Amino acid sequence: MSRGRRNAAAVALALAMAPHPPAGAQADARRSGYEFMGAATQAMQRDDAQNPAMLWVAEGEALWKRREPGVERSCADCHGEARTAMRGVAARYPAIEASSGRPVTLAQRISTCRADRQRGVAYALESEPLVSLEAYIAMQSRGLPLAPPADARLAEARRRGGALFRQRVGALDLACTQCHDELAGRRLGGSPIPQAHPTGYPIYRLEWQAVGTLERRIRGCYTGVRAQPPAIGSAELVDLQVFLAARAAGMIVESPGVRP
Ligand code: HEC
Ligand code: HEC
Repeated sequence: MSRGRRNAAAVALALAMAPHPPAGAQADARRSGYEFMGAATQAMQRDDAQNPAMLWVAEGEALWKRREPGVERSCADCHGEARTAMRGVAARYPAIEASSGRPVTLAQRISTCRADRQRGVAYALESEPLVSLEAYIAMQSRGLPLAPPADARLAEARRRGGALFRQRVGALDLACTQCHDELAGRRLGGSPIPQAHPTGYPIYRLEWQAVGTLERRIRGCYTGVRAQPPAIGSAELVDLQVFLAARAAGMIVESPGVRP
């Protein structure tokens, strides 16, 4: 038995000894990560006055309205009120970008608009202004069902993302599906394993002491199984997000979420 397999066996054993969740009687067994969290973290997400992510949302709103020196128009000058113009937008990303014909995340889409339409200095992926704008735009979809577009060009990305989700990786030789489909609801170390639905992103994560994206969260899972994570903005991470969005289609957007 390889070291990877042995480690995987040890993880499996630890998981087998953890208590089972009660069997769900509902037809739709999908659950947001919110439902797996402790009461204190849930309360923090439920109440905007307590949710630290709202600081990023406020920053995003300021950026949306700001006319920077040297930049002709603010986001709002072209798009109008985010409450109406961006309603439902986050719920249907990743989507195909018209200019490239490729699937892009909401962050990538914002970043393109910033560079090509607004002609401002580009925002790096995961940079604070971009994460803030993403959090502000994502919040405009709160309460709406995730609605990935029925675009045939997304099918191939979804298929590749699904294959990545089932592929064993890293020194622990584990696939996403083993934890997030087969073992969801059990505990690993101290944490409950959620089903990995992208309903709350971007999230404030206590461990990060910051708001971060779904990509950052997924990369953390690669590191967790001691695999080299794909780069931020890479096709692999976009494909995985296309797959996760389809897997969670119809679930309600809760952004910005709070996670341990
Ligand atoms: C060894 C088990 C394990 C594997 C394998 C694993 N994860 Fe995770 N994942 C976790 C745990 C545990 C958490 C919750 C961590 C926490 O709350 O600190 C998590 C959290 C997540 C979340 C956040 C869900 C939410 O509600 O916010 C996503 C998304 C996710 N994982 C995706 C993936 C993807 C994609 C892969 C494969 C590349 C993967 N995970 C592989 C254990 C795993
Ligand atoms: C000069 C006008 C202009 C400015 C400034 C501008 N945008 Fe845009 N934006 C557009 C146009 C036009 C489109 C849609 C056409 C396209 O595909 O490019 C668009 C599309 C988008 C989309 C995709 C919407 C969807 O329905 O998929 C997002 C998100 C977005 N912009 C965010 C922003 C943000 C955030 C800013 C500020 C940082 C910004 N835009 C600044 C003109 C602008």
